Amino acid sequence: MVVEDVPEPALGPGLVRVGVRAAAINFPDLLILENKYQVSVPLPFIPGSELAGVVEEVGPDVTTFAHGDRVFGATFVGAFAEQVAVPAASLTRIPDGVDFRRGAAFGVAHSTAYHALRSVARVQVGEWVVVLGAAGGVGLASVELTQVLGARVLAAAAGPERLAVCRDRGADAVVDYRDEDLKQRIKELTDGGADGVIDPVGGPYSEAALRAMRWGGRFVCVGFASGEIPRIPLNLVLLKGITVQGLEMRGFLEHSADDARRDREELLELLGAGRVTPHVSVVYPLDDVRDALQAVADRATTGKVIIEIVPEGVVPEAVPG
Ligand SMILES: NC(=O)c1ccc[n+]([C@@H]2O[C@H](COP(=O)([O-])OP(=O)(O)OC[C@H]3O[C@@H](n4cnc5c(N)ncnc54)[C@H](OP(=O)(O)O)[C@@H]3O)[C@@H](O)[C@H]2O)c1
Repeated sequence: MVVEDVPEPALGPGLVRVGVRAAAINFPDLLILENKYQVSVPLPFIPGSELAGVVEEVGPDVTTFAHGDRVFGATFVGAFAEQVAVPAASLTRIPDGVDFRRGAAFGVAHSTAYHALRSVARVQVGEWVVVLGAAGGVGLASVELTQVLGARVLAAAAGPERLAVCRDRGADAVVDYRDEDLKQRIKELTDGGADGVIDPVGGPYSEAALRAMRWGGRFVCVGFASGEIPRIPLNLVLLKGITVQGLEMRGFLEHSADDARRDREELLELLGAGRVTPHVSVVYPLDDVRDALQAVADRATTGKVIIEIVPEGVVPEAVPG
């Protein structure tokens, strides 16, 4: 991966060119770079799937945004750059009072977590939710949003420093799944079992967490950051009336459009009201994007990692035409 000058992204119908101020790393960025994602991207390409910035120019038929609007949004690739052209439909205005770093950090992790908790697990007030990989991007968003829904959260992650971040973010209980017996500790700490599990990690933790659920529990499969897809004995599901359901963003948006719209409106309101604040743990300049991606791959970061293209408060120089 190199940082170099390339031509300005072309603007076409339906597209908006955004001057990127900050971009956020998501786990799939690593998979795409390693060519391990479901879809291969032809080389060369610009990585990066989540951004916040300022609208520079809109395509001929775009009426929803105008020059100067502060926006955040998602794209498949292209966000780790000074400019990106994305469909207008994938952009949202950043609420007043939210900076570009948090705007960039918000969309993917919080939407994934909220759909999983609100629409799939249907978390109720007072319930216990176990979040695996709780110190990661989707993980910390789930820790925060479980509390917003009035439920109690048990955060499971690797090592005391990562668990301390989860505690700081309001986790009611924590388990170090590297050193402790996950199943036993969940049962002890939740007075008999979890009502919900949010699982972005997979591997051996999934079955341990499933075994620690109470009757009628809802287990949401979100991803396999461990690289291992677990195989679950179905007798566990049968005996306790447990529901296991997947949440994959594209499928959910297509097939559960009403729930997706409601969740999105609620989330934006929470962000605008300051009731949710994405946890940005570290900010790298664009020149250090390789180090930033390596740190996420090494499990050395918590919450969201930001690539800052233009520091907050600095107005970029006009690009010569
Ligand atoms: N379903 C969807 O629509 C959707 C949307 C977004 C993301 N995802 C998926 O959700 C997962 C998490 O994404 P994210 O952006 O939150 O990633 P992230 O910030 O890197 O967090 C992943 C967490 O998984 C844990 N982990 C355990 N084993 C790991 C391993 N071998 N390598 C890396 N991490 C490991 C790490 O915590 P510890 O070190 O504490 O264990 C890490 O904090 C990914 O699988 C991603 O593809 C799915």
